[in-house]
Amino acid sequence: MSRLDSVAQNRFDGVHNSMSHPIKFLVTGAAGFIGSHLVDALLAGGATVVGIDNLKLGKRENLSSAQKKTSFKFFQADLNDFAVMNKIVADESAAAPFTAIWHLAANSDIRAGVADPDVDFRDTFLTTHHVLKLARAHKIPRLAFASTSAIYGDLKRKLTEDIGPLLPISNYGAMKLASEAAISAAAESFLERAWIFRFPNVVGSRATHGAILDFVHKLKKNPAELEVLGDGTQQKPYFHVADLIEAMLFITAKASDKMNFYNIGTSDSVTTVRYLAETTIRHAAPSATIRFTGGNRGWVGDVPQVDYSVEKLRQLGWAPRLTSDQAVDRAIAEIVAENNHS
Ligand SMILES: NC(=O)c1ccc[n+]([C@@H]2O[C@H](COP(=O)([O-])OP(=O)(O)OC[C@H]3O[C@@H](n4cnc5c(N)ncnc54)[C@H](O)[C@@H]3O)[C@@H](O)[C@H]2O)c1
Repeated sequence: MSRLDSVAQNRFDGVHNSMSHPIKFLVTGAAGFIGSHLVDALLAGGATVVGIDNLKLGKRENLSSAQKKTSFKFFQADLNDFAVMNKIVADESAAAPFTAIWHLAANSDIRAGVADPDVDFRDTFLTTHHVLKLARAHKIPRLAFASTSAIYGDLKRKLTEDIGPLLPISNYGAMKLASEAAISAAAESFLERAWIFRFPNVVGSRATHGAILDFVHKLKKNPAELEVLGDGTQQKPYFHVADLIEAMLFITAKASDKMNFYNIGTSDSVTTVRYLAETTIRHAAPSATIRFTGGNRGWVGDVPQVDYSVEKLRQLGWAPRLTSDQAVDRAIAEIVAENNHS
C-alpha cells in the first residue's frame, strides 16, 4: 500500500463533519497544476468532486483522467462572476450539500502581479472573498486554502507559523495574506473549520508556470544557451506535488482546531538555481551553456533566500519523502517528458 493510499484511508475524517451525506468537494482552480492533482486524489479516495476553473492559467487536458469519472463534474467559470457561481453551487447542492471547499484558484504568475496589481487583487484576493460568500450562502462548513510562503516576505530568519508582523514583498504574497485574514474572520462568523497551507515552490508534472517550465521552454527555443536570471546562487526549498497533496490530506484529517495553519515543505533542504538549470540542461539540451544575468535576486518580488520551518507539521506526524533536490530531479524528468510529447 502506498503512503498516499494509507493517508486515503482516513483522509476525509477531518473535512467530513456528517455521516449522513456523501463526501462532496468544491475545488477551485481545478484545471491548474496543483488543483488537477488534488482532484485526482480526492476522486481516488471516493469523493464526489465539482471543479471550477476559468482556464486562464489552467488546462482542460489536466483533467483528462478526472473527466472519465461520473463522480466528477467540471465548470468553466470565473469565481468573480458571483451570479454564475451562485447558481452553479445552488444547483450542485440540490442533490447533496458540499462537505468542504478546497480553494486553490489564484493568480500563480507572481511577476504578472508585480507588473499589474489588479491581477492579484482580482484573482488572488477577490476569488477568496467570493468563495467565502459562497460558503456562507450555501452553508458549506469547511474550507481548505492554498496559501504560500510568500506571505512571510524577505525575513532574515527561520519562517515559523507564529512570527509577525508579516511584510510580504509581492502583491501576490500580500493578497494571499489578506485572504488568510478574510478566512480567519469567516471562521469567527460562519465557517466551522479552516485549514491554511503555506507552501513554497511546488514542482511536478502538469506545471503551468515556474522556473523549470521556463527553462524547458527557453531550451526548446534555443538549445545552445540558457539565460538564467540572477547569479545562480539563489536557493529555495522545492517540494514535489505528490508530497504536497499527501501533506494537505494528512493535515485536513489530523488538524482539528477552528483555524489550522501549517507550513508545508521540505526541512533543511534547498536547491540552488544553478542546480535547477544544470539538471534541466542535462535532461533537455545537454550541449547548452548557461548565461547568468547577474545579481542575487531574479526579479522584484522574488525572495532570494528562504529558511523554512516545517517543525509544526512534523509534530503533527508528517514528513516529506523527497529532499528538495530529489523533488527537482523528479519534476524535471516529468516536465521534459511531457513537453517532448506536446
Ligand atoms: N505552484 C506553487 O509553487 C505554489 C506555491 C505556493 C502556493 N501556491 C498556490 O496553490 C494554488 C494552485 O497553484 P498552481 O501552481 O496549481 O497554479 P495554477 O495557475 O496552475 O492554478 C491556479 C488555477 O486557478 C485558476 N484561476 C485563477 N483565477 C481564477 C478565477 N478568477 N476564477 C476561476 N479560476 C481561476 C487558473 O486558471 C488556474 O488553473 C494557488 O492558489 C497558488 O497561489 C502555489
